[in-house]
Amino acid sequence: MGPKAIIHLDRLKSNYDLIKEKVNNLPIISVVKANGYGHGGVACAKALETHGCRFFAVFSIEEGIELRKAGIQSDILIFSRIDANSLPEAILHKLTLNLCHEADLPLLIKYAEENGGCPTVHLKVDTGMTRLGIDIHNTENIIHQLKEHPEVPCEGIYSHFATADEGDLSFAHAQESKFKSVIKIAENIGFTFKYIHFSNSGAVINLNQSVTNMVRVGMSLYGAFPSQEVPMDIPIQPVLEFKAPIVNIRKVPAGTPVSYGGVFTTESESTIGVIQCGFADGIPRPWYQNGHVMFKGKKYKIAGRICMDQFMVDFEGQEPHVGEEVLIMGDGSDGCVRMEEIARSINSTPYVISTGISGRTRRIYQD
Ligand SMILES: Cc1ncc(COP(=O)(O)O)c(C=O)c1O
Repeated sequence: MGPKAIIHLDRLKSNYDLIKEKVNNLPIISVVKANGYGHGGVACAKALETHGCRFFAVFSIEEGIELRKAGIQSDILIFSRIDANSLPEAILHKLTLNLCHEADLPLLIKYAEENGGCPTVHLKVDTGMTRLGIDIHNTENIIHQLKEHPEVPCEGIYSHFATADEGDLSFAHAQESKFKSVIKIAENIGFTFKYIHFSNSGAVINLNQSVTNMVRVGMSLYGAFPSQEVPMDIPIQPVLEFKAPIVNIRKVPAGTPVSYGGVFTTESESTIGVIQCGFADGIPRPWYQNGHVMFKGKKYKIAGRICMDQFMVDFEGQEPHVGEEVLIMGDGSDGCVRMEEIARSINSTPYVISTGISGRTRRIYQD
């Protein structure tokens, strides 16, 4: 009993193929951080690796180790800043690290000298996100140092877009031109990066891939568009269906208040069902204001505030049975709501909603 996330791995693979087609067959780094955006990082990585994906990215060293322990053989890029204490584990598990700060290169050089080896890195350049990344003005100096120190194997260079999923792409274009100038600097120095990547889901949809030789995508793989502002012209399908069981049914008269605060009252005599799924499981609490669930092909209103572990539905004249399930979100067909629609309604993003689907939710993988 409890919430279930049905993860359609067939759709994940088909989304992968659609994205690959969109980027003219460039290799894809599949981003499976934060438990695969709530979809199950290990299961998604395994499905994608079997399907031909050879590159993955996660945020933490621990997430990388989890993938290795599950048998993932492909390259794994870690997005977090290098932690000197994690270098031995990075080598042991063949994890690629994120060289994103000027001070981390001397640390790697020293480590290589003392230990006779160093983890492989990708150089990250900040072109406008103002998060991790070498300051653009220091890249020439850093690339010179990388050339002088082949004991620090640097295979890739990348940056991250701040606004590639917006209607106004002027800032994204400015980031692109900064990145191009860095690639030019590397060419002038005579330093070659095997991998050059920049595009996330928004950029895959909105921009061309002129200077890069791979893309780095997460959200679109899981079948949600990163924002309302991108053209929704790739037929990606939501990978996740979120369901939960009815655990209690009660007939109530008109005017009955339901849930905390009594902000919802029944309009007429009605059947109130208790659904075993709460905001702690990933149903976003603000969704109660306009939200609904699907039951036997019909929409029913969420009745009152969503609680931590449960919420109520006004089944009106219907007589559902305990043990039957409601569909909270899914593929958008037959009135069933997509994650993007919930995100729009509550002024959130699909990233927040999908990663909110937590450990108590049982994931069931379908292929
Ligand atoms: C550094 C980096 N690259 C790529 C991605 C993937 O972005 P998206 O899920 O929009 O494709 C993320 C996601 O947050 C990221 O942090």
